[in-house]
Amino acid sequence: MPQDLTVIVLAAGGGTRMKSKTMKVLHRVGGRTMIGHVLAAAAATEPRRVVAVVGHQREAVGAEVREHVADAVLAVQEEQLGTGHAVAVAMEALAADEGEAVGTVVVATGDTPLLTGQSLRSFVADHRASQAAVSILSGVVEDPFGLGRVLRNDDGDVLAIVEEKDATPQQREVREINSGILAFDATFLASALPRVGNDNAKGEYYLTDVIGLARGDGLAVAAHPVDDVRQTEGVNDRAQLARAGAELNRRILDRWMREGVTVMDPATTWVDATVDLAPDVTLLPGVQLLGATTVAEDAVIGPDTTLEDCEVGPGARVVRTHGQLAVVGEGATVGPFSYLRPGSVLGARGKIGAFVETKNVEIGEGAKVPHLSYVGDAEIGEGTNIGAGTIFANYDGVAKHRTTVGRHARTGSNNTFVAPVSIGDGAGTGAGTVVREDVPPGSLAVSAGPQRVIEGWVTRRRPGTDQAAAAEAAVAQSDPAEG
Ligand code: UD1
Ligand code: CA
Repeated sequence: MPQDLTVIVLAAGGGTRMKSKTMKVLHRVGGRTMIGHVLAAAAATEPRRVVAVVGHQREAVGAEVREHVADAVLAVQEEQLGTGHAVAVAMEALAADEGEAVGTVVVATGDTPLLTGQSLRSFVADHRASQAAVSILSGVVEDPFGLGRVLRNDDGDVLAIVEEKDATPQQREVREINSGILAFDATFLASALPRVGNDNAKGEYYLTDVIGLARGDGLAVAAHPVDDVRQTEGVNDRAQLARAGAELNRRILDRWMREGVTVMDPATTWVDATVDLAPDVTLLPGVQLLGATTVAEDAVIGPDTTLEDCEVGPGARVVRTHGQLAVVGEGATVGPFSYLRPGSVLGARGKIGAFVETKNVEIGEGAKVPHLSYVGDAEIGEGTNIGAGTIFANYDGVAKHRTTVGRHARTGSNNTFVAPVSIGDGAGTGAGTVVREDVPPGSLAVSAGPQRVIEGWVTRRRPGTDQAAAAEAAVAQSDPAEG
């Protein structure tokens, strides 16, 4: 029978050390906000309810919480009087929403982006197995400065947590710290919170005082040191944010490599937690895969490519490309130096080549836009080849219009398609054509006028220039009699 579990996430503090107009827990690493990572870990424990304590920028933080947990209870803590007060506010909000919490209550903070669901799950299991009134997820660290210390007696029983500022020099020597993640028996927690005072160095209501209260009530208290202390490290400033982001990325890449992805240079490859990769994908140096990007097997990405919310098909090749909300079909090739803007859909075995920008376009199977083009608001049929240097002129200065090019068409170099316009199946256009009217299937459109050659123009109109000298020398050489 699943036991009742409530997860309380503390996120009311200002996070002033970030020196940011954005709340600390809303800063992003690995494609999610920090609180998003914590909520993802919390979800893995299958809580009946999630309560977020919000204060500073409560609208923004609340909205982000609801983005991850639609039915989360938002408890507003007007003034940040301490972690004990924050949890009391959460328990009140929960009681008002659906009645007193029962079973287990887990308290976490919103600033530990490396926390995994697996660690949180096993902590909850350890807590339940120990039947303790309170369990501490502790950690043994090299430098415990600033953190609460776990005090044990000679038998190893946990007695209390003492905060840095309240600790004696001897207590400060202790290297077992409180990660800030605690589990409680809900009934005991409700009975203890009103007894927490603020007579301490910070004048705050410390949640950690509940441990001493449990001991006083003759109840069991447990501390479970976490193997991987980085998972519970809080981020307080931008330097720690960058370190947490790099560590998260390293872990994400390790996981994908174990799943069969080749990562040639992990140091320059960044993959968000939200990305999905298939076995035998290869990532070359300088790749960033962001958001909801997915890459299918045997695809090769990079070097130097950023894809955000893109879908790359099996065996596709994407070289030195910037893409957003684009789809690259099976066996298709993109790049080098391509810019795929939202709505670009490249069919199987199609090609988007060098210095091509695409937006809101469906390019059919095997169709190619190989060189130096802008393709916007268009549909290009299968097997069609678009000549080098083609501009799909989709914008008349007021509104956007669409261009359609049929199947197996062959359009010339340096064309302009002035939308709305359509070019039929199997049609063609000459070099330099400006297509303003529809081209029926199988027709050839040419719009450039016949070439006129005005002989001797340079000598007459640009006398004394290098251009004229070169022209005259060439004429003299080809026809010495005239010299
Ligand atoms: C807390 C613990 C400490 C632990 C450390 C781990 C207490 C008294 N101390 O110390 O033992 O080692 O975390 O990081 O609990 N918050 C609120 N409302 C408040 C106060 C805090 O929402 O009134 C939030 C903060 O935004 C923050 C978290 O709770 O995310 C922790 O609060 P903070 O004041 O940073 O506690 P620490 O001094 O770090
Ligand atoms: Ca802190």
